[in-house]
Amino acid sequence: MQKILVAHDGSKSSDKALKKAIELTTNFNASLTILAVVPELYLTELADVDRNRISDSLTRETNDSMEKIRKSLSGKSIDVKTVIRQGDPAEKILETAQKMKVDLIITGSHGRHGTKKFLLGSVSSKVVDYSKCPVLVVK
Ligand SMILES: Nc1ncnc2c1ncn2[C@@H]1O[C@H](COP(=O)(O)OP(=O)(O)OP(=O)(O)O)[C@@H](O)[C@H]1O
Ligand SMILES: [Mg+2]
Repeated sequence: MQKILVAHDGSKSSDKALKKAIELTTNFNASLTILAVVPELYLTELADVDRNRISDSLTRETNDSMEKIRKSLSGKSIDVKTVIRQGDPAEKILETAQKMKVDLIITGSHGRHGTKKFLLGSVSSKVVDYSKCPVLVVK
């Protein structure tokens, strides 16, 4: 196990996934990439100005969250980097995993939006369905 990718959306569930990812990265002496995807907004009823405003605030929030994580890990001696992408979260997670040839993708079971009604959120579910490498869904 050399490369691990963890998907982080700022949710509690993805914090749990990150914790597990750090544990595994340390134990396997692997390298860790933390990926956050800023979702594109497809809400057609929004005026462009509103869409841009929401998009800007989502981007800022994601940058802040990644910065916080980077800081909290700076003391630890693990090989870690953070990556921010924009687009469809599941697609970007899958694409990044393939491009980087990671050995394992780690996600939370749920994220920021869904209800606990479903067993898995739509992003983790799509990643499990389409990934070519092993996926660990942290509950
Ligand atoms: N934008 C994102 N960037 C990075 N990882 C994400 C993103 N969205 C979701 N994930 C990953 O997928 C996991 C599950 O989140 P998911 O979005 O599938 O559930 P949900 O938000 O509860 O439901 P849904 O989005 O389907 O309404 C998260 O814990 C995180 O690991
Ligand atoms: Mg979600």
